[in-house]
Amino acid sequence: MTSIYDQIGGDEAISAVVDDFYDRVLADPGLAGYFAGTNLNRLKGRQVEFFAGALGGPDHYRGQTMKEAHRGRGIGRPQFDRVAQLLAESLRDAGVPPELVGQILTAIAPLAEDIVSPAATAAPQV
Ligand code: HEM
Repeated sequence: MTSIYDQIGGDEAISAVVDDFYDRVLADPGLAGYFAGTNLNRLKGRQVEFFAGALGGPDHYRGQTMKEAHRGRGIGRPQFDRVAQLLAESLRDAGVPPELVGQILTAIAPLAEDIVSPAATAAPQV
């Protein structure tokens, strides 16, 4: 079976989606504050590698685990859901077919368990 990675167009497509995705994330006032002080180029590179591996492509991801990367950041369920929604919009606008977008969301949904902070409800005060 062809991987989701291959079906959406490999690293090139994922890089384009990740670029567009972070544009959307940083344009969202409820999310931007989380990324203050972040080296965006580095994060984008890691995100491309992470998604490639998570979607059945080559696994070059050597970053932190999802738990380590997001620990103590006060990320609530609403923020996770919003990020997932923006990812879906980026994928859709890149021409990824809806059923594949659905499969990708299904693949990342379980990550909420490691990314959402216990009892986190609000964005940090900026
Ligand atoms: C499907 C959901 C998500 C995935 C797959 C994901 C993936 C990643 C990856 C791969 C890293 C890099 C880790 C490293 O540098 O070793 C990272 C870091 C980070 N993520 Fe996420 N993330 C997700 C959701 C979120 C959400 C919901 C937020 C906040 C609203 C968030 C905020 C951050 C921040 C602030 C960093 C650290 C950036 C830095 O190094 O300064 N992430 N994430």
